[in-house]
Amino acid sequence: MSIAYNKNKAAVNDPSLQDNVVLTPPLRKMIIAVDGPAASGKGTLARKIAERLNYAYLDTGALYRAVALATLEMAGEPSRVESVMPAVDIIKRNLTTALLESPVLRKPEVSEAASKVAAIPEVRAALLDFQRDFAKNPPGDVGGAVLDGRDIGTVVCPNADVKFFVTANPEARAERRFKELLWTHPLITLERVLSDITQRDKRDSGREFAPTYPAGDAYLLDTTKLSANDVLDTAIWTLHKKFLAETGANI
Ligand code: DC
Repeated sequence: MSIAYNKNKAAVNDPSLQDNVVLTPPLRKMIIAVDGPAASGKGTLARKIAERLNYAYLDTGALYRAVALATLEMAGEPSRVESVMPAVDIIKRNLTTALLESPVLRKPEVSEAASKVAAIPEVRAALLDFQRDFAKNPPGDVGGAVLDGRDIGTVVCPNADVKFFVTANPEARAERRFKELLWTHPLITLERVLSDITQRDKRDSGREFAPTYPAGDAYLLDTTKLSANDVLDTAIWTLHKKFLAETGANI
């Protein structure tokens, strides 16, 4: 089932729902998948859902970025499997939250390289177990896991309890990314960011293995004209309905 954002608009426009939705998550551990293209707002949404529900959060794009950074640091070629696999081994042995949250991973050259390493099937296969294990056994005393990426709902966790696919038009995404990057890259231009995003979209959606596309049972959220809070409200409304059906709990 795919529900386009417009069908959920009532949730955003209904002030009582925005402020008062009480989520009663099921007792078993839940898996929430949040997929979408670069700068669509999926990371912000996934993080906020995890905070709201006290779930563990994994930014799977950061795994590919960490592999890309390690490859570049070893003067490797990000499109060549022989260059990248040693970097995968290093990252798997040295994975820390600090590394996954490092601002260095957000550099444009790392983004570009990440999209190349992510197209290599051996790299994807080597990172699969870690992601699945995180989803099934999230760290800490939490009620579940939220993973964001490109193929969480289709490949990593096809049985996720709730799947969101977050999109926005390329211009809106480029503008968001441009504003973020200006802090660290004052010379960057909007044109360059748009061109990078378009190229990465092409590579991420056109690749042979685990290309970016919405799972058939994902809820589609178009964030082009929405604030981060509106997107969160819509997602929370969707989760509320899902949890209500599972637990029978009332609000
Ligand atoms: O979400 P992001 O921009 O941080 O992702 C970085 C790169 O990794 C991007 O080119 C897509 C790729 N990626 C992927 O192929 N599969 C994922 N689950 C997550 C990210």
